[in-house]
Amino acid sequence: MLKRLLSFFVPINIYKKNSAISNKLEVTYNNGQLILDSKNTNYSYGSLQRILRKGLNYIGYERIRGFENVLVLGVAAGSVIKTLAEEIQFKGKITGVEIDPAAIEIANTYFDLNKIKNLEIVIDDAFEFVLKTKEKYDLIIIDIFQDTKMPNFLFEDFFINRVNYLLNVNGFILFNTMTLTEKDFERNKNYKSRFDNNYSLRMYPKVEVHNELYTIKKLA
Ligand SMILES: C[S@@+](CC[C@H](N)C(=O)[O-])C[C@H]1O[C@@H](n2cnc3c(N)ncnc32)[C@H](O)[C@@H]1O
Repeated sequence: MLKRLLSFFVPINIYKKNSAISNKLEVTYNNGQLILDSKNTNYSYGSLQRILRKGLNYIGYERIRGFENVLVLGVAAGSVIKTLAEEIQFKGKITGVEIDPAAIEIANTYFDLNKIKNLEIVIDDAFEFVLKTKEKYDLIIIDIFQDTKMPNFLFEDFFINRVNYLLNVNGFILFNTMTLTEKDFERNKNYKSRFDNNYSLRMYPKVEVHNELYTIKKLA
């Protein structure tokens, strides 16, 4: 409680762990809220949760409540999953795929992620998971970072096509990207051009300084 109060004046770190994927994982009280950061960026809760909430808002909470199956690629401490389960009251199935077991340990210990009944966590590489899964999804949230770096596979045809195949018609992809350099803007421009008339793509620039967020609806 004291730490929480103090955090309105200065961020208070309460747990640190080295991570092979993210360099470092740090749980911190910031303005009274518990957040998870990697070495150089916010991973869960805080600004990251606000970014993804914007996308979910655009898709529409009512529409999301009608979905059956949601896939979250990149779980960390699970803030978008909390938004889905607690704010939106989504009751369908949520599958969360996370490569780093240390992140899930933190999610369960500090953020009670294991209390969400309709959630299944899979510890796996998202690239491998999308190749293997036999299910189809109404909403696929892609939020994969290794500290500030986005793995190249996210922007390659193979992954894009596979994710599109796994998406039901009238379903949505919500894709969070980081744009720090000119190269990142070029990469995103190229990404947009991969979607034909069967998809309706919308981009939200600068949702939080360095992020571009995409919603992509499968029309046919
Ligand atoms: C920004 S965090 C995700 C935040 C989360 N969506 C939320 O709402 O709180 C990015 C996560 O992607 C994970 N990640 C990185 N590469 C991955 C991969 N190839 N497959 C699955 N997860 C990966 C990282 O370990 C990290 O936990």
